[in-house]
Amino acid sequence: MIRKVSALVAIAAALLAASVYALDLTDAQRADIEARIKPVGESCLQGDASCGGPAGAVAGAVARSGEDVYNAACMACHATGAGGAPLVGDTAAWGDRIAQGMDVLYVAGIEGVPGTGMIAKGGCMSCSDEEIKAAVDHMVENSQ
Ligand code: HEC
Repeated sequence: MIRKVSALVAIAAALLAASVYALDLTDAQRADIEARIKPVGESCLQGDASCGGPAGAVAGAVARSGEDVYNAACMACHATGAGGAPLVGDTAAWGDRIAQGMDVLYVAGIEGVPGTGMIAKGGCMSCSDEEIKAAVDHMVENSQ
């Protein structure tokens, strides 16, 4: 009985020694691991100048979908007609506008329509030009 216990103790001691050894190994690899995870620590916040790239368009950031941008920045007017905004889904209101061509509509979305409630980017200054174009696409697709 006593022999069995001491055998178990010996095994436990051996396992403990092995795990201490494993810790040593981890220690030795720490620099390597730190080097690998470093990019995470160096990640930057959207709009942060240290991110590089054009302001507001973070390199590697996933652009919001046209639908997301529409829901966040355009729907307030284009789903209510506020300020005379053409309603999305109102094919009659959009027919002549769509006939101008998408480039004209993109410019209207990005720069706004002077003298109307259509302000530049619908007021979404954090939206990239590409995101506004996607929102225009979304509006046009649902209005013809
Ligand atoms: C504050 C209200 C408002 C918001 C928010 C708004 N719009 Fe508009 N939008 C208007 C109005 C008003 C018009 C009609 C302008 C006119 O008289 O031609 C318009 C017209 C447009 C047109 C048609 C322009 C043309 O040449 O016929 C497009 C495209 C457009 N908006 C895109 C957008 C997009 C994309 C967003 C969101 C990013 C957005 N709008 C947000 C009010 C708004």
